[in-house]
Amino acid sequence: MVSLSYCLSDGSLKFPTEVILEDPHNNITEYIFEKIGVDLHRKPEHPIGILKNAILGYFENKFGESSFRMFDDLNPVVTSYENFDSVLVPENHVSRSMNDTYYVTSDRVLRCHTSAHQLSLLKKGERKFLVAGDVYRRDSIDATHFPVFHQMEGVRVYTKEELEQSALPPKEFVSQELKRTLEGLALHLFGDVELRWVDAYFPFTDPSYELEIFFKGQWMEVLGCGVMEPKILNNADLNEERAWAFGLGLERLAMVLFDIPDIRLFWTDDSRFTKQFEPKMFRSGGTGMRKFKSYSKYPPCFKDVSFWLPDTSEFTENSLCEIVRSVAGGLVEEVKLIDDFRNPKTGKVSNCFRITYRSMDRSLTDEEINELQDSVRAQMTEKLHVTLR
Ligand code: DAH
Repeated sequence: MVSLSYCLSDGSLKFPTEVILEDPHNNITEYIFEKIGVDLHRKPEHPIGILKNAILGYFENKFGESSFRMFDDLNPVVTSYENFDSVLVPENHVSRSMNDTYYVTSDRVLRCHTSAHQLSLLKKGERKFLVAGDVYRRDSIDATHFPVFHQMEGVRVYTKEELEQSALPPKEFVSQELKRTLEGLALHLFGDVELRWVDAYFPFTDPSYELEIFFKGQWMEVLGCGVMEPKILNNADLNEERAWAFGLGLERLAMVLFDIPDIRLFWTDDSRFTKQFEPKMFRSGGTGMRKFKSYSKYPPCFKDVSFWLPDTSEFTENSLCEIVRSVAGGLVEEVKLIDDFRNPKTGKVSNCFRITYRSMDRSLTDEEINELQDSVRAQMTEKLHVTLR
């Protein structure tokens, strides 16, 4: 049994619990494991930290210095109850599968959203709070998807007395407050942009919405939100209260705000990236704010892999991506299905994926790419039971 822990900046252990790597349910690769504890959202000079602080700044300005409490160092390992059940994710929802979520053991996961902390913070008596943290999802690979990213969550509870002061029914009142607050946030971040509300579905809110802004010629989703399902509040013994909640992805917004073209750049130590950011650089609405200046990209290298899908087991793109990621780490830029074909006679299905390798920091040699690709191919046969063509 291997037990793992990592240190917080103050030297304390963040992970006193043992992670049993041999647990049959554990699907956390070394590459992902190394990302735990990096905590980009806690670095004030990093674009993720800068954006987190800009959002916190909005709430402090609007509601007062210590009105919203910020939690940004909650353990990313949570129980599957916290990650799913506590926010009413249905028993059979796909996000619970090992194809979508990183499991530590059968009942503990790397959180796939910061909503996992809603109930426990409510139970601890918190009534207005923000949660920022790293979240983990097994996913496809491209310029905007990375299996580790950062989210920010906000919750505001209204007491019975506060609800009674409004002439509106509680749900409508809270919904209106929510929209007003988040419209303010979007304008604070993006300036004078056009906004629209789109109906959405989340198991933990009703009604649920997404807020979109019209930015650089297209509509872009900024966040998801809604009026919290009363059942969650009841589970925290809040029977007469109502609340709103929202969640947003920090990378996506930071990419737009600072003009960052590739999600992998957030993880680079290259000073041509890191030197372009500093703690106080955020300007509301981006007015006069310095943007990221791309430095020249190194050339990509494309490798195609064609194979017959197995008859006996299920093949998923996520598990292919996981293999590519575990072999090539941050050197993989995209994994894309370019051909999907069924032989009409045999019924066998053949896929071809194009893997794009590119380093953010240097030129790659043919030799090293071939070595990576060979290793990907070998693992595909061994672990995914495909037949290479
Ligand atoms: N947890 C959602 C996600 O990861 C985001 C979200 C939507 C959070 C609505 C919320 C909410 O608190 O009310 O996609």
